[in-house]
Amino acid sequence: MPQGFFITFEGLDGSGKTTQLKRLAAWLQARGHSVVCTRQPGGTALGDRVRSLLLDSRLDAETGGVAPMAELALMFADRAQSIEQVILPALAAGKIVLCDRYTDSTEAYQSGGRGIPFATVQTMHQLICKGLQPDLTLLLLPSLQSSLARARRRNDKALHQKGADENRFEREGDAFYTRVYQAYRAIAAREPQRVAAIEDDASIEDVQQSVRSIVAERLGNK
Ligand code: TMP
Repeated sequence: MPQGFFITFEGLDGSGKTTQLKRLAAWLQARGHSVVCTRQPGGTALGDRVRSLLLDSRLDAETGGVAPMAELALMFADRAQSIEQVILPALAAGKIVLCDRYTDSTEAYQSGGRGIPFATVQTMHQLICKGLQPDLTLLLLPSLQSSLARARRRNDKALHQKGADENRFEREGDAFYTRVYQAYRAIAAREPQRVAAIEDDASIEDVQQSVRSIVAERLGNK
């Protein structure tokens, strides 16, 4: 049975979760906690390669599109590797794991966004992740428009500066992202014990204060 504490960050592209995760990691480390940060897709050698396949928008032009079930299977392939190589060893060593996205992203994007039945995602989660759930999920939900504007700006810059194309999802339209947003809200409503939603367009500092107080309380109750 894992001894550590498993925290995931979730939200739309551009919701600020990566910035918040890094700040939380630094804050926890300064308080003597041993922290492992990772992300999905990615975070392992295999996962990094899967990530560049999944997020490269040029793939759509070259292949005529990625089948939703192929996308789903790759997300879970990445996750299986991450669980085995990163998450479970860190939890077994008593560490706090901070993971940028996990199965809630699959529910929001592949089920909400792409329309794959929720039961399919749930079945794969049970099978591949053996039902491993985060102890706490921080769901950042600033407004849809501000998230998307930020994500698109950031990825255009990365494409021009580094040639790294991670735009495949950001090219989806507002209707897709509205479904993703609603799916996230449904997850938060369904699992209020696990999922703490931070819903406004507050500053980075204010959101970080909320994140820290939620985490401190949950760690204290552990
Ligand atoms: P990010 O790591 O930069 O937030 O971007 C990862 C992208 O992959 C983001 O657009 C959401 C998408 N994604 C899914 O569609 N399903 C998943 O299960 C995960 C983990 C990510």
